[in-house]
Amino acid sequence: MSRVIGLKCRECGAEYEANIQNTCYECFGPLEVHYDWDEVQNTVSKEKIAKGPASIWRYADLLPIDGTNYVDLGAGFNKLHHAKNLGKILGLKELYILDESVNPTNSFKDRVTSVAVSKALEFGATAIGCASTGNLASAVGAHAAKAGLPAYIFIPGSIEIGKITQMLAYNPHVIAVDGTYDDANRLASEVADMHPDWAFVNITIRPYYTEGSKTLAFETAEQFGWETPDHIVAPLASGALLCAISRGFNELEQIGFVDDSKKIKVSGAQPTGCSPISTAVINDTEVIPIKHLDTIAHSLAIGNPADGYYAKQVIQNSGGNAASVTDEEILDSILLLARTEGLFTEPAGGTTIAGLRRLVENGDIQPDERTVVYVTGNGLKAQETILTALKRPEVIKPTYSEFTKKYSNLN
Ligand SMILES: Cc1ncc(COP(=O)(O)O)c(C=O)c1O
Ligand SMILES: [Zn+2]
Repeated sequence: MSRVIGLKCRECGAEYEANIQNTCYECFGPLEVHYDWDEVQNTVSKEKIAKGPASIWRYADLLPIDGTNYVDLGAGFNKLHHAKNLGKILGLKELYILDESVNPTNSFKDRVTSVAVSKALEFGATAIGCASTGNLASAVGAHAAKAGLPAYIFIPGSIEIGKITQMLAYNPHVIAVDGTYDDANRLASEVADMHPDWAFVNITIRPYYTEGSKTLAFETAEQFGWETPDHIVAPLASGALLCAISRGFNELEQIGFVDDSKKIKVSGAQPTGCSPISTAVINDTEVIPIKHLDTIAHSLAIGNPADGYYAKQVIQNSGGNAASVTDEEILDSILLLARTEGLFTEPAGGTTIAGLRRLVENGDIQPDERTVVYVTGNGLKAQETILTALKRPEVIKPTYSEFTKKYSNLN
């Protein structure tokens, strides 16, 4: 029996067969996966998970794939670092960082893509597509290559060269547009309409795609011995990641894996140059899309966030908050994380750490809250940006006298 009954509208509850579809025909609301929870409960167990593979697929009983034909490059099962040094500086007793920079293509996007491309194979899709701010592109390129399917990737032309180089290596069709992510996404949606047998991971099969990020909650709880944190902090672009992590914790409560009496505060972070969701949370207004985006955090530069409304709701209902942080704070936080915890992240991760700092300063996160921060991408992808905050080493002659000339007064 399948654990997936079909798709269900988040707004009006209308039900549909599991298909390549993301919007409700009745009310245009977003669709989500509708599980048979009795079936899930019959198959899932902590023991089975413990014996499962060292990847997101250990949680297969909580994911929307029927068989075991996974497109698996090994996403997930990443270390939850006890960030004692950073915690001490910030005055937090129990700070943890889930490091996503070590995924197969070096961002959390491998989780969502592994699920989406596996589902695309189930649907018999003839090509994979996506609109991307940079990281999803490489995840899709790599997983499509593994699945033996062509890929069509729509990106804003202005993103970091490291991300472009990486995605090109997998040989997808890369369509770089003169515009923002929102422009690339609009074009990708038009192309998706014309090609119903192509699966656009974050557009036409978005309900399945977002399920992949629930595994961040599962992994967190499992590494805590099936306990939950008090507070989590995640970066926000479309808002899908934050909503999915929260949903993951709720599902663990629902199946009785964790204590359901404990409320987890959910907080988010965005760069000031693109902060439609954070601004809406802070000012308690609607999420207002923005057109002019100006930030070094290219992977978070989405002006019209698809899940912005829901991310705001999740944050506010949980008692969490949001932060908007400057490019300077982002760079400073990238270096702080590297120099305290030995973790090198890109500006999206810098945004999250800078957001954490702001939330602590403002008293939104209390010193004794067990806090988990999701650092979602790798610093090597944004070298030209990060180097602006560093000084390249002076090149010296390889002699001992040259060395002592420069370093004689150091010990
Ligand atoms: C590294 C990184 N972190 C976070 C995000 C935000 O994800 P979401 O669009 O699900 O909010 C992205 C999106 O591209 C990303 O690349
Ligand atoms: Zn509906």
